[in-house]
Amino acid sequence: MASVLSSPSENQVAVSATKLLINNRWVNSQSGKTFATINPTTGKEICQVAEADAADVDIAVKAARAAYEHGPWRKTSGPARARLLNRLADLIEKHADELARLESLDNGKPLSMARHVDVAATIGCYRYFAGWADKVMGKTIPIEGNFFCYTRHEAIGVCGQIIPWNFPMLMQAWKLAPALATGNTSVLKPAEQTPLTALRIGELILEAGFPEGVVNILPGFGETAGAAIANHMDIDKVAFTGSTEVGHLILQAAGKSNLKRVSLELGGKSPNIVFADADMDKAVEGSHMALFFNQGQVCCAGSRVFVEDKVYDQFVERSTARAEKRTVGDPFDAGTEQGPQVDQTQLDKVLSYIESGQSEGAKLNCGGGRVGDKGYFVEPTVFSDVQDSMKIAREEIFGPVMSIIRFKNLDEVIDRANRTVYGLAAGVWTRDIGKALAIANNVRAGTVWVNCYNVLDTAAPFGGFKQSGIGRELGEYGLQQYTEVKTVVVNL
Ligand code: NAI
Ligand code: MG
Repeated sequence: MASVLSSPSENQVAVSATKLLINNRWVNSQSGKTFATINPTTGKEICQVAEADAADVDIAVKAARAAYEHGPWRKTSGPARARLLNRLADLIEKHADELARLESLDNGKPLSMARHVDVAATIGCYRYFAGWADKVMGKTIPIEGNFFCYTRHEAIGVCGQIIPWNFPMLMQAWKLAPALATGNTSVLKPAEQTPLTALRIGELILEAGFPEGVVNILPGFGETAGAAIANHMDIDKVAFTGSTEVGHLILQAAGKSNLKRVSLELGGKSPNIVFADADMDKAVEGSHMALFFNQGQVCCAGSRVFVEDKVYDQFVERSTARAEKRTVGDPFDAGTEQGPQVDQTQLDKVLSYIESGQSEGAKLNCGGGRVGDKGYFVEPTVFSDVQDSMKIAREEIFGPVMSIIRFKNLDEVIDRANRTVYGLAAGVWTRDIGKALAIANNVRAGTVWVNCYNVLDTAAPFGGFKQSGIGRELGEYGLQQYTEVKTVVVNL
């Protein structure tokens, strides 16, 4: 395994935006406070960023409210909103390499991934929802009597949007693109670990020409700025991606304040099921990527790998060999497959799950430790002989730790796959269409992948059953999270 090299990565990226974006102006926070954003490759500070709190959220909400009710935004037509979103997508494309470097610097993900996954999907997301901006329409409904009845799908209003650090730029796009396409305004809080690309895209939003107050970006912490958004009496809707724990808090805050609409995309413990008849080369590599992609920091990671008895030993051996080959190192090195975890907290959390796996009696096949002594790198880790009751099989680890679990037959694996509070995604590897569809129909999850994994597309809805969330993002279904339905009845 490659060791972690010292890198010139800090020098390759210029940081231009570090303040709050409120009403199309870059401002300091009311308190004057700032916080450090850290390079996870080195553990060193990249720069200070303005720290928003409740007072700043108030000011931003007033700007977003004014823009929604009285600004030019209210009268901006669908085609005009589409043009703005397309202009933003073009600007992101123009700055694609710079944005990818900034994302790698702040988050630690390999540069090639940042460029070909995060930036590419971000551009695609803005373009996709630009396409919807002039196609959001209601129905005409034949009702009893001499009336003309129709529905309008109207913007909800001011949206609070709270996003995580694992795909910072892409989660910003998943939130902003559908909200703006449908005519809402936004107060968006990036994660405190990764504020830089959200702010840089804020500059591009100004350059694209969005009117004042439509998009406000407030870096800050969850317990302060985030909670102020969730509790605010004049925010009409909150969209959140992050931990299930905070998802509960957001829903409670909405209930205690103004019954704002809530959409949540939360954690997971997704089963990835490998039958003995699967194409084993594809199943091994696909399961490897399902778990290790993005340093394992993926909500839909295939983190419970159920493998049929007959091929269990072979699968464990091959998956271990694959994990041992995984190159860990500086995200700016071309050969790197895995960068650091995002911060010290995540590093500690992942290492403590590895300890618990060992103490509960799972077999450690490879990895298990930290790489190097600076930055937050973890060895690709594989456990076998994992039992359903173990912590590593029940809780979201969010790191490069694979748990391989044995099963005997179809009915049993469906039952065990469903014994979780989560329901975000599932995978199945088999050549038998009957088995594939039995899993697709009976596993309670928002997405099921057959002979593939992590295939996300802006046109296809994504979200969770059970405690993995409420509502769906992306696709036509995603629009429903950002519109209210109004029924109009006209006496003829
Ligand atoms: P988190 O849920 O605390 O943070 C996500 C976002 O929520 C951040 O912007 C944060 O500032 C904000 N937030 C935190 N507390 C808040 C509050 N009380 N009110 C409003 N907003 C708040 O997640 P964290 O602490 O970064 O990671 C903990 C675990 O959550 C991870 O180890 C992972 O298991 C899971 N997670 C899941 C993600 C997903 O994609 N579903 C993304 C990030 C984390
Ligand atoms: Mg947290």
